Amino acid sequence: MRLTKRSGANLFGLCPFHSEKTPSFSVSPEKQIYHCFGCGKGGGVINFIMEIEGLSFREAVEFLAKRVGMEVPDERGDTESRKRERMLALNKDAARFFHSRLTDPSGAPAQDYVNRRGIAPKMVRTFGLGFAPDSWDALLKAMTALGYTRQEMFDAGLIRVGKKEGSFYDTFRNRLMFPVIDIRGNVIGFSGRILGDGEPKYMNSPETMVFNKSRNLFAINLAKKTKAPYFILAEGNVDVLMMHQAGFDSAVASLGTSLTPEQARLISRYTGEVVIAYDSDGAGQKASQRAIGILEKLDIKVRILHMEGAKDPDEFIRKNGAEVFRSLLESSENHVEYRLRAIQAKYDLKNDEQRVAFLKEAAGLLASLPNQLEREVYSMRLAETARVPAQVVEDEVARLRKSRLSREKKQYEREELSPVRNLQRRERSVRYENVRSAKAEEGVIALLFQDPELFRERDPVPPEDFSSPELGRIYAALLSQLRSGGELSPPLLAGQLSQDEMSCLTEIIGSPEMTQGSRAKALADYIEVIKSERSKAAPQDDLRAMAAKYRQKKGYGG
Ligand code: CTP
Ligand code: MN
Repeated sequence: MRLTKRSGANLFGLCPFHSEKTPSFSVSPEKQIYHCFGCGKGGGVINFIMEIEGLSFREAVEFLAKRVGMEVPDERGDTESRKRERMLALNKDAARFFHSRLTDPSGAPAQDYVNRRGIAPKMVRTFGLGFAPDSWDALLKAMTALGYTRQEMFDAGLIRVGKKEGSFYDTFRNRLMFPVIDIRGNVIGFSGRILGDGEPKYMNSPETMVFNKSRNLFAINLAKKTKAPYFILAEGNVDVLMMHQAGFDSAVASLGTSLTPEQARLISRYTGEVVIAYDSDGAGQKASQRAIGILEKLDIKVRILHMEGAKDPDEFIRKNGAEVFRSLLESSENHVEYRLRAIQAKYDLKNDEQRVAFLKEAAGLLASLPNQLEREVYSMRLAETARVPAQVVEDEVARLRKSRLSREKKQYEREELSPVRNLQRRERSVRYENVRSAKAEEGVIALLFQDPELFRERDPVPPEDFSSPELGRIYAALLSQLRSGGELSPPLLAGQLSQDEMSCLTEIIGSPEMTQGSRAKALADYIEVIKSERSKAAPQDDLRAMAAKYRQKKGYGG
């Protein structure tokens, strides 16, 4: 990331957390915080690492410590990272065990299955495929012998609790095992396919402290090294495997879910172009549409693969070979062509009325394209398809575009002028129930930074009086920094406040400063608002308290 602009004490650059063309990501070297005015994310260096690397607070601290050659001392949190390391070691050992069972004579059924599906021995090694024996406790015994406890195996999702008290059994039995490996080479989970038919076809590790399906992609450990300018996104593990085998080493799959924004962000770290090779059935097409939207938000170019006569890449490559697949890849449609065809499929163009309806819907799509050249090219193509003069289409697109732009402008103005505009814009961040009180509470926090002296002697208003629990926590944390004699230092609050609360805080810090003379008066006004809003809310609180008491008496519990 590059910070390219200076404005006052702040540096600006393009935000790494959302897609944008003009810089709204600000960094204050003096305050040691960042804040994006576009997506609302903010915090200190630890928050930045947490956000961009997808790490927990503890992990981010360790990540940073490692970079400067420091060790994070043993403390409470240490058990968490120790546990994590043990789980990764266990997963790796389990993967080794499964792999060894596949080449063992007892793994013949799995080896047969691998051969039947045309998976080459080289791919078995590259992907670390394995076999979970047809046994209730083969893995349990093997891992016990290596010194892992049942609790550890249970936490990793490798064994399950049995019916008999204190009994456990292997989660994966008689399955072909695909280890899921992250970008750092850690085995974070498994996906197991039944040999042949049966239910469930695939079984995946549950979410664990190291396995988060929505943040990882199958084969990302391999695809990240590709020289191809694009990634191929498929649905199935076997599809990915067969594509790699055919020489397409940038294939990945989302882990039994549809593509998530986090997965798309992971992809965007390695490439600016994605070819979607989802199954050709209805579900696959729907999932493609969703994925297009998610990828485009990150400015990733999207193309769609159409596999005629095959349901997925695995089947297509087996039927037609790698070369045909390559030519298909190279001629794959971009998303505009794809969407135009999807619209066309809904109408009978021989019917004039339907032809008009088709034209209208398709023109709407073209009007949404930000690029003028693209609009022109596809307008011409649309005119041919709908058999109308090109001018007709161009005029319609231009008209729709104009009304679209004015709609967007109005929307923008509405948000700009709204007193709660920042609350609306900040996605997923803090929401306020009482906006009037919350605004005053934000004001109090802003003043705490501009004039700590007003707060030095005593709390002019206690955090408990805040209507917003988030703002209350932020304010309390800052007050305690002040009381302990220290300077106010937002980056140090990363461990106490949530990411959303940090974003909220950096936004408040960025609000314009008040002149010296008006601060005390402003503080008094804010407190007045907070108190009056609180008194309005109080009767309700009383009711709630009464209801709680009543429930207690009747023995319903608090
Ligand atoms: N999947 C899953 N759970 C299931 C079925 C599927 O998690 N019960 C996931 C798996 O990651 C699988 C992907 O969805 O790889 C695609 O499933 P599907 O299209 O049904 O399987 P194929 O990839 O065609 O599997 P195969 O070729 O092995 O039959
Ligand atoms: Mn398949």
